[in-house]
Amino acid sequence: MPDIADYMLKKSEQINRKLAEILPSVPQEAKVLKDSMEYSLLAGGKRLRPVFFLTTLEALGKDSKPFLPFACALEMIHTFSLIHDDLPAMDNDDYRRGKPTCHKMFGEAQAILAGDGLLTHAFAIMTQASQWAPPALVLQAINEVSLATGLDGMIVGQVVDVARDGEELDLAELRFINKYKTGALFRSAVRSAAILAEASEAQLTALTAFAEQFGLAFQIVDDILDVIGDTKITGKTSGSD
Ligand code: IPE
Ligand code: IPE
Ligand code: MG
Ligand code: MG
Repeated sequence: MPDIADYMLKKSEQINRKLAEILPSVPQEAKVLKDSMEYSLLAGGKRLRPVFFLTTLEALGKDSKPFLPFACALEMIHTFSLIHDDLPAMDNDDYRRGKPTCHKMFGEAQAILAGDGLLTHAFAIMTQASQWAPPALVLQAINEVSLATGLDGMIVGQVVDVARDGEELDLAELRFINKYKTGALFRSAVRSAAILAEASEAQLTALTAFAEQFGLAFQIVDDILDVIGDTKITGKTSGSD
């Protein structure tokens, strides 16, 4: 059995190498777009969502290599969400991944656009998976990621999180926010891989349950770290949520 930390490191290095080459060039006039996208994308991060995606493929006996770009697309969506989450209108955070946030470096307008660029290009990348898996399955996987990012996932969670900012939440409300804001993207990372790997219904159900529970636990730990965590280790300002 491989050491989990070792495994995660190897996988994230693989993802980092691909991320560094995945963005296409943009017109020179808009050079700041690519610079700002890469600034946040390559700033580090645990790469958990793409690792979950690749690991799910492998667990189901599928070669994960051709799907590395799809995995990177998930990280691009996650990074978009962080850039926008840090904006003054949202959490107003100055540090992320151990560096000044995107809007601190490039200004608010360019940070909004960097997020927009990452989100939209992620979908262009995901469509390329149709070279490696049946197009109907690729469509289903992209649909899963789209809903988890947007109207049945992260954006819903962010809307409620922002709306309830500063208010005391009961357990059910907290669970709701965590499920949508954070759980949904983990869930879709696992489920999109399972779909591409032609998982059975039973496998899909089990993997979905795992990802949902992991997402909840992950956000709870993230919230606790916001109180007791060390900025030097988390790479983001404590006490901001
Ligand atoms: C931070 O996610 C935002 C949450 C959903 C809690 P991560 O803790 O995965 O952030 P990075 O990618 O490692 O920076
Ligand atoms: C997580 O929200 C960000 C998204 C899911 C978009 P938080 O605001 O709780 O995460 P951190 O603490 O800034 O990373
Ligand atoms: Mg937030
Ligand atoms: Mg935040």
